[in-house]
Amino acid sequence: MAPKPRPFICSSCGAAFAKWQGRCDGCGAWDTITEERPLAAGPGKSLGALRGKPVPLLDLATEEAPPPRTETRVEELDRVLGGGLVPASAILVGGDPGIGKSTLLLQAAAAFARAGLSVVYVSGEEASAQVRMRAQRLGLGKAEVRLAAETNLRDILTTLEEAKPDLAIIDSIQTMWLDTVDSAPGSVSQVRAAAHELTTFAKSRGTSVILVGHVTKEGQIAGPRVVEHMVDTVLYFEGERGHQFRILRSVKNRFGPADEIGVFEMTGRGLAEVRNPSALFLDGRGKPSPGSVVFAGIEGTRPVLCELQALVAPAPAGQARRSTVGLDSGRLAMILAVLEARCGMTFTGLDVYLNVAGGLKISEPAADLAVAAALLSAREDQALPEGTVVFGEISLSGALRPVTQMENRLKEAAKLGFRNALAPAGGRLSETSGLSVSQVSDLPAFVGEQFGAG
Ligand code: TYD
Ligand code: MG
Repeated sequence: MAPKPRPFICSSCGAAFAKWQGRCDGCGAWDTITEERPLAAGPGKSLGALRGKPVPLLDLATEEAPPPRTETRVEELDRVLGGGLVPASAILVGGDPGIGKSTLLLQAAAAFARAGLSVVYVSGEEASAQVRMRAQRLGLGKAEVRLAAETNLRDILTTLEEAKPDLAIIDSIQTMWLDTVDSAPGSVSQVRAAAHELTTFAKSRGTSVILVGHVTKEGQIAGPRVVEHMVDTVLYFEGERGHQFRILRSVKNRFGPADEIGVFEMTGRGLAEVRNPSALFLDGRGKPSPGSVVFAGIEGTRPVLCELQALVAPAPAGQARRSTVGLDSGRLAMILAVLEARCGMTFTGLDVYLNVAGGLKISEPAADLAVAAALLSAREDQALPEGTVVFGEISLSGALRPVTQMENRLKEAAKLGFRNALAPAGGRLSETSGLSVSQVSDLPAFVGEQFGAG
């Protein structure tokens, strides 16, 4: 007897079922099972009976030059793309609704048009009149960008095939729908199918496509993660509400470094480049105050200074809070534990708040020492000396580890007028930065030197 078809597949573990169910028996995940259509070959036919055609096999060694890239001269954008736009590439730009994706891409469209590309901007969210009004407000009323307001992907692809642009911008992937997929626009299968059609179009026709994607509350591109796998480059446009800074971050890039950032400021006339983000992130800082520490970080290939702020206050009995903005809470817990176990500095019974000023998100372990310094400075109500930057990784033993690009961090600090640095011992440092650097080997020694305890 032929086995029963099992078309319901768990998207998390791949287990197959004959019937739909809410929870996967394989991995226990909820709501991950979707129906997958059988292949046209149908059941029973093995691939051996359906011979494909041979594909050409090429040598790895070639004389081919690297693909020419197009630069916009918007440095913050070019850097995040890894040095400009690669022809026939597919890029996903994700971000919260209202963060400024459409504004960014309209400005990018105009910049690419200025650089000599033919650009089509397809809006599925706004009418052409609205897009034109926005362009006028951005001072781009005369830009040579062609517009379409459409959501039917079949019509869009036909239009693009005829117009043959160098770049097509699709705003947004969630509004696009294919009449061959019978589910609502914005659903997982529609988003997946639309992204597949558009990336395939990019590869086969040599048109670069930029897809705009909304992000869910959990911080993922709404729709399946697979969209991220389909494209060459994934950029996130982030920022805090109430802050003017916007950060464009590459989280995946087949044609350049990931983790690169471009910094912009939202103004009344659109996004403006921020060439010196350190100055911006440190803007408005007054005299040194307890709990405030300047961290010399690296974002992508560039040093960026920013301020960490800690507040430590007595907590109601048994309900001490730990809260962080812009930093991993697990990392904060680890640093608190090391301070307690290795230095005898306890935070029991105290609320701890830690904040990265300016809406920046820090993921480098190099921030550990700056976090510890901010916590201690807040707890002891004692500011670090004026003009000091801090960096270094803390290990569980309490030792301080050298971090990458120490010289670059120091140079950036010197450029912004800082005079002292607290850095981990080890790692050679030349004397070129002009800062007075005190290198510390472990956290207890650091606590003793800076806060007269330990
Ligand atoms: P938008 O690009 O529409 O966001 P998204 O496409 O990510 O949903 O940007 C919306 C916000 O940007 C809106 O709150 C207004 C603000 N904005 C400015 O501050 N200045 C401008 O010049 C423009 C065009 C928008
Ligand atoms: Mg938009």
